[in-house]
Amino acid sequence: MEEDIRKQFPQLQIHQDLVYLDSAATTLKPQSVIDSISKFYTHGYATTSRAVYSASMKATEKMEASRMAVKEFLNAQKVEEIIFTQGTTHSINMVAYAYGRKHIAKGDEILITEMEHHANILPWQQLCKEVGATLKFAVIGDNFELDMEDFKKKLSSKTKLVAITQMSNIFGSINPIKEIAKLAHSYGAVCLVDGAQSTAHFSINVQELDVDFFCFSGHKIYGPTGIGVLYGKYHLLEEMDPFVTGGDTVDKVTKSDSIYYSPPKKFEAGTPHIAGVIGLKAAIDFLKQQDRGKLLEKKLSLLNTLANKLQSKNSIELYNSFPLKTPILTFYSKKIHPLDLATLLDIKQIYFRTGKLCSHLSMYHAKRDSLIRLSLGMYNNQEDIDAFLNAFNALL
Ligand SMILES: Cc1ncc(COP(=O)(O)O)c(C=O)c1O
Repeated sequence: MEEDIRKQFPQLQIHQDLVYLDSAATTLKPQSVIDSISKFYTHGYATTSRAVYSASMKATEKMEASRMAVKEFLNAQKVEEIIFTQGTTHSINMVAYAYGRKHIAKGDEILITEMEHHANILPWQQLCKEVGATLKFAVIGDNFELDMEDFKKKLSSKTKLVAITQMSNIFGSINPIKEIAKLAHSYGAVCLVDGAQSTAHFSINVQELDVDFFCFSGHKIYGPTGIGVLYGKYHLLEEMDPFVTGGDTVDKVTKSDSIYYSPPKKFEAGTPHIAGVIGLKAAIDFLKQQDRGKLLEKKLSLLNTLANKLQSKNSIELYNSFPLKTPILTFYSKKIHPLDLATLLDIKQIYFRTGKLCSHLSMYHAKRDSLIRLSLGMYNNQEDIDAFLNAFNALL
């Protein structure tokens, strides 16, 4: 199965020795995504929305076809609920700025967790500083999963917003989003979900989850960098002020004021990343062709077996809950510092992530200054795992 998949990723064909174990940071790109971008720049390049000539109208049609593909991918109710952004970081900042500054005030609380990526901490920290609200953190339990009892205790009628990741980029843990959204709503809070990690592995149904905002990045689901999505329930988007202002967001401008378009246009100022939007649709089309459930099972089996082998060494500490539910394996070796390991294995073209992994609070929980994270994409196979383990063992 993976051989057919591997053939679709030119980087793996060109660099036959490459062992890419960093898909949680960003995934490699299939040929179909690369071709869609190249085709646009080579054959059909033009701006969108502003012009009436046919190439521009075609580019606009492509952009809107992509929006429809995202709507179906997330099972949003309306296509207008899909906003193109630069990525998850940009999407969360947009909500913190455009929703937060309007609806969150002194004395209110925002509840997040200790396992958040900095992208889902800093925008809230900044907002709280500005408006005088309090940022609260639900703690991580002993098994590297969210402590739901602590989460429930910290939720109150003061909570105006809950922002939480669906899948931890450090421990790979999965949070019960449907339950969390229901709890948030029972206190009148809105719920934003960071889907940066989960969207590559699981099908997302925003209506079923009943979340208010959902964010993800194209580059983590086999699509291009610089493009991402903010899904928001339409009534919430409608009452939000724009985040970035400028061309293509307004119906009428006078010297004293302006009338903005309805969502999504009022949030998409400036010439969009058209090639990115087109590439995102190609990535979604590519994902739809795969049996994602089967691929996830395969990846989990590869990593669970590796974890068993690592666990037999006294010098290794693992930082996941087992059996794994997502293809992330995080560990520490007392015999070799993570940064030294990454530098030495780089010589063999074995790529993986080490360090604080953009989540200092998770690091405090792990009580380490640096960890080793192996994360798999649909192209990884047994040879990749063996190559890592052999190279690692040779250094011990
Ligand atoms: C859980 C999580 N949230 C947010 C982000 C930020 O995504 P981006 O850098 O694409 O904006 C990442 C990236 O690693 C992540 O893992």
